[in-house]
Amino acid sequence: MAPFISFEGIDGSGKTTQIKLLEEYLKSRGLPVIVAREPGGTEVGESIRQVLLHSRNTALRPLSELLLYYASRHQNLYQKILPALEAGCWVLCDRYVDASMAYQGYGRGVDLSLIDQLSQMVINQHMPDLTVLIDMEPALGVSRAKERNRHDSIDEGRFERESLEFYERVRQGYLKIAQDDPHRVRVVNGDQPIETLHRKIVSLLKVLKIES
Ligand code: TYD
Repeated sequence: MAPFISFEGIDGSGKTTQIKLLEEYLKSRGLPVIVAREPGGTEVGESIRQVLLHSRNTALRPLSELLLYYASRHQNLYQKILPALEAGCWVLCDRYVDASMAYQGYGRGVDLSLIDQLSQMVINQHMPDLTVLIDMEPALGVSRAKERNRHDSIDEGRFERESLEFYERVRQGYLKIAQDDPHRVRVVNGDQPIETLHRKIVSLLKVLKIES
């Protein structure tokens, strides 16, 4: 199986930019690679994404939200990620199970062991070889994310209503996940020049012997 790498971090941490750069880097080395994103990634998943992120959906309860993320993830894993890995293609995934733990668990207070059980059922032990956690102050990340959403025509503003305290809990949740699984989850500082961070991420591939 080819390498499976997920990217995590609070909104506006720069995951998407770093994924794009890593994708270009791998392609320039002749390696096959696809990018998957959560929520979304498949036709069903993209429909679920609209429900999850649209600002009109204020009635969504935390457990419904959690289950929708997992439905999207299950589709993404079996329709897109596993077939690619089995065909020898690298997969770079914009968020995966750690996002549910950080946002729905630490952020919203859904029972952590329930999320764990759901993960076991839905992803059946298919964990990334490496998770890059881009750590950042919530104030900085959130202002960047708002700026970007203003320029996009689609409404993905539901998370914009969250407080900085919510994002602080999410951030601390992510750091706890990294502490508990330090081999898989590597924390990098998101408040540094894009190119510097890209080089750091490439060096992680070498340290972990994912790429020589
Ligand atoms: P994403 O598209 O990665 O947004 P961004 O590019 O701004 O980081 O994720 C959309 C939102 O969904 C984001 O606020 C995080 C949230 N989310 C969860 O709450 N739980 C999850 O399991 C996932 C995958 C995302």
